[in-house]
Parts: sequence; structure tokens; C-alpha cells
Amino acid sequence: MIELPENIAALESYKPGKAVDNVFEGKDFKQTAILSSNENNLGTSPKAIAAMQNVLSNSFVYPDPSGMKLRTKLAKKHNTEINRIIIGDGSDGILSVIFKAFFKPGNELVSSKGSFVAVNVMTKLNNIPYIQAPLTAEYAFDLDTIYKLIGPKTKAVYLCNPNNPTGAMIGREELMNFVNKIPANILIIIDEAYAEFATELADDYPDTTEINLPNVLTLRTFSKAFGLAGVRLGYGIGSTFIIETLMKVKLTFTPSSIAQAAGMGALEDTEFMNKTVSTNNEGIEHYYKAFDRLQLKYVKSYGNFVMIDFGTEEKALKVFQGLLDRGVFVRLLRFFQLPHCIRITVGLPDECKLLVEKLAEVLKTL
Ligand SMILES: Cc1ncc(COP(=O)(O)O)c(C=O)c1O
Repeated sequence: MIELPENIAALESYKPGKAVDNVFEGKDFKQTAILSSNENNLGTSPKAIAAMQNVLSNSFVYPDPSGMKLRTKLAKKHNTEINRIIIGDGSDGILSVIFKAFFKPGNELVSSKGSFVAVNVMTKLNNIPYIQAPLTAEYAFDLDTIYKLIGPKTKAVYLCNPNNPTGAMIGREELMNFVNKIPANILIIIDEAYAEFATELADDYPDTTEINLPNVLTLRTFSKAFGLAGVRLGYGIGSTFIIETLMKVKLTFTPSSIAQAAGMGALEDTEFMNKTVSTNNEGIEHYYKAFDRLQLKYVKSYGNFVMIDFGTEEKALKVFQGLLDRGVFVRLLRFFQLPHCIRITVGLPDECKLLVEKLAEVLKTL
């Protein structure tokens, strides 16, 4: 037997549930809905598909390691300089480079409980103590407590805005007050995987891509609003110092040329983006009305998902299973440290309807 380092052996890996293709295997449902991974159920941007098809026959050539074309386009979109942008294999890919690039043994990461599960996994993987404040009573990041947890060993702070899985958001003023009081030797990672939805749903969603402080890095992804989760493409915007450091450490030929092309196409596809956000806005409203009617305790969300608190893990499990038995797959949140809650992605109108109908049915059985 090959001996593993203790931190790797102890790792409980990120389990996104059953392979989604097989969840309903052997069942004969008239209609089903996969609402478990905050994907874009509208599909993939047609312009991204066309752009990928255009480069497929060039797959024998290595990708541009500096990703100049896509970074140039992103710089234009965000009205900033190319050397403030990095692209990676999803925002997860960039997160993993951050740990390699900035952390030394003994350094700690500070954040919140009830946030993005990949950060728990990556800190364990990298042997980094993960110091977590509790969520507020509203399931939001508690920035005051997070600030108090910062100490001499803190290397970075991770903020997820809006937060997956709770959906809560940190507003502009609160975020800026926080960012401005963090010492410059501490990296502030602001994960904005759902920014395109939040911008539509909130008046005071902060535009952190405009912050140009030496210690701030914003992460964005093409996986959600752009519908490219399977392609693996994300980007970061930060100071030139942070970006240069990450560029030194990242695997040379990432992301793939297919992913880079997809990003180019997706950024052109305003029609797809508009449809995505309007479908989400309508779906969220549909959920809120239904959840109010069903007297459920849910959190107002600024992403493409809504979290419901069922009070106990037992009840959450029953609801999850009841929905699964009726053709609807949602996400249990034990790995997110919220075992009494369920997260439901906003799907297409018919999928939202199905969820509501089946949820009402399941609740009657409890
Ligand atoms: C908050 C947050 N960050 C990052 C990601 C991962 O994004 P990517 O697919 O770009 O790695 C997700 C996906 O669920 C997420 O919810």
C-alpha cells in the first residue's frame, strides 16, 4: 500500500452526488429536472459552440499559454488592462493556483462557514488551516466576525459574493469598508461566480473588478451565466502583482484552446446572456411566490439558486429523497456545513413549475 500524507488520506472529496446522467436511471418519469449544480439549463451559448467548432481541427496545436486574445477581450469588457487579468480552468482552477502561489506552511485562510465547498476541500488538500466565522442569522457572511478572526497567520480572506449555497449578498458599502481596512499583506479573494445574476437582482452589487488594490483578486466564471460549466473556463481580475504571480505558477497550457475559443464566442453572445438573466429573474420570482405559499423558510438569493432551511437534517433528507423519487434532483448541503438545508437551482420555466408541484406534493407526505 502506498502511504498517503495524512491530510490527503483524511480528505473527504467533493461529491457532487451521483453522476447526473444516471440520477434517474431505470425510472420512467414524464418530466424531470436537474436543479442540483447551479448550471445554466438554457444550455450553451450558440456563439460559444460555433467558436469551439472553429478551433477543433486545430487541436494538434498547443493553446496560447498567455491567453492573449481572451484576456484582451475581457480587459475591454471590464475596462481594465490585460495584465490585471488571468484566465484559468474554471475559477476553481485559479483558486487552486492561489493556494500554490501564495501560501507557506503555517499560513491560514479566513472565511465563513456555509460557503463554497471547494474551498474546504482545497484548504485540506494544501494543509492550510481554514478559520471560519459562523454565518449571520440571515445566512450571510459576517464581515465583522471575519475581521476579528484575522491574525498574524492569516494569508488570505475568502469572500463568496453572492454566497453559494445561501444566496446572500454583501452590498457595496459593507464590502468596500471591509476591503479598505484589511492590511495590504493579506490577499482578499472575492469569488463572484454568480455576478451576472447578482447585477440584475440587486441595486448595490459591488463592482469589485474596478478595485485596484494590490491585495484584491476577483474571481469570475464562464460556468454559470455563460453556460460553459463543462468546458472549464474562469478568470480573475486583480493587481498586476497578483496576476503576474499566478501566471508564473499556473500550468503553462491552461486553459485549453477550445475553452479559450468558447470564452471569445460567449462574450459576444449578448442575446444568450439576456435570456439567461431574464429566465433566472422569472424563475426566482416563481420560487419565492411558491415558497411563500408553502410557508417555507428560504433565503433571498442573488444567484441562480435558492436555499431553503428545513430546520433538521432529517426533514431536508426526506424532501431531497421525495423530490428525487418524483424526478427532481436538488442539492443537499451537508458538505456545505448546512445539513438542514437544500439548495435548488433556478431552471427553465417548466422545470421550476415541476419543482414547485413536486415540492408541494412531498411536503404533504411529511
Ligand atoms: C462560488 C463558486 N465559485 C466557483 C465555482 C466554480 O466555478 P468553476 O466552474 O468556474 O470552477 C462555483 C461553482 O459551483 C461556485 O459556486
